[in-house]
Amino acid sequence: MDSQHLQRQLDAERARHAAEVAALRSQLLEARKSATLGELLGTTTHEFNNALTTILNYARLGLRHGDQPTRDKALGRILSAGTRAAKITASVLSMARNRTTRFEPVDIGQLVDEVLVLLEREMIKYRVQVEREFGPAPRVSANPSQLQQVLLNLLVNARQAMPTGGRLILRIAHDEATGLVDLTVRDTGCGMTPDVMRRMFDPHFTTKSGPDATGKGGSGLGLATCREIVEAHRGRIRVESAPGRGTAITIRLPMLQASERRGA
Ligand SMILES: Nc1ncnc2c1ncn2[C@@H]1O[C@H](COP(=O)(O)OP(=O)(O)OP(=O)(O)O)[C@@H](O)[C@H]1O
Ligand SMILES: [Mg+2]
Repeated sequence: MDSQHLQRQLDAERARHAAEVAALRSQLLEARKSATLGELLGTTTHEFNNALTTILNYARLGLRHGDQPTRDKALGRILSAGTRAAKITASVLSMARNRTTRFEPVDIGQLVDEVLVLLEREMIKYRVQVEREFGPAPRVSANPSQLQQVLLNLLVNARQAMPTGGRLILRIAHDEATGLVDLTVRDTGCGMTPDVMRRMFDPHFTTKSGPDATGKGGSGLGLATCREIVEAHRGRIRVESAPGRGTAITIRLPMLQASERRGA
């Protein structure tokens, strides 16, 4: 076999490998999406059941007691638990539907709130205080369900970094000069060593022994997926972290172009 022939064969082999890696990558992303949805289903069913229990208990209370004040109070509780249940289903639906790769104008603040609804109880349970610092920001061009997934991964990581509680600070800022929108997820948790920081985005890299009591964590695919999605949005991820001091992860996204805005 002459060397030219060998070279051609090697090139063909390399191209085949590259195509295979690309196919596996997209399969991984799909699998990860389903996994997130599955984990979410566990959490939200639980939350939904809590709301339902409240509704049932207060309905019984109202039926047992004929006096107006007790009935009024029961109806009030039923209304607020019902509203909460409706919010939960709305969030899950918005996350499950629309799982195309289509980009559309997205209000980041609204998206953050939607994802937070799903994790509200979990944050309370782990004594995590959620703080919102939402500055005015234009909409970004994004795929909403992908962005929700990024946020969900970051929020769960932050919560897991604070097993005995802490603060979760969500900040939205807009830089008018550059037109970029920053979303920062900051926690006061365990932080990362430089060695962990170097590998945090590697697929399957994890320091967790497995899923926690809420069924989340330990696959090591969360941040790899985040990076893939943010890059598809022509965005950037910046990480600041120090052991024992907490972590801040900033997603920087380009804002909607004037041409895209007209169509919206
Ligand atoms: N906010 C954070 N604070 C401290 N360490 C973090 C934080 N976020 C990520 N890490 C570290 O980066 C590693 C990789 O995170 P990643 O989300 O990719 O995987 P995971 O959380 O271990 O599992 P999963 O894929 O199920 O989310 C984590 O195991 C953890 O060591
Ligand atoms: Mg994770």
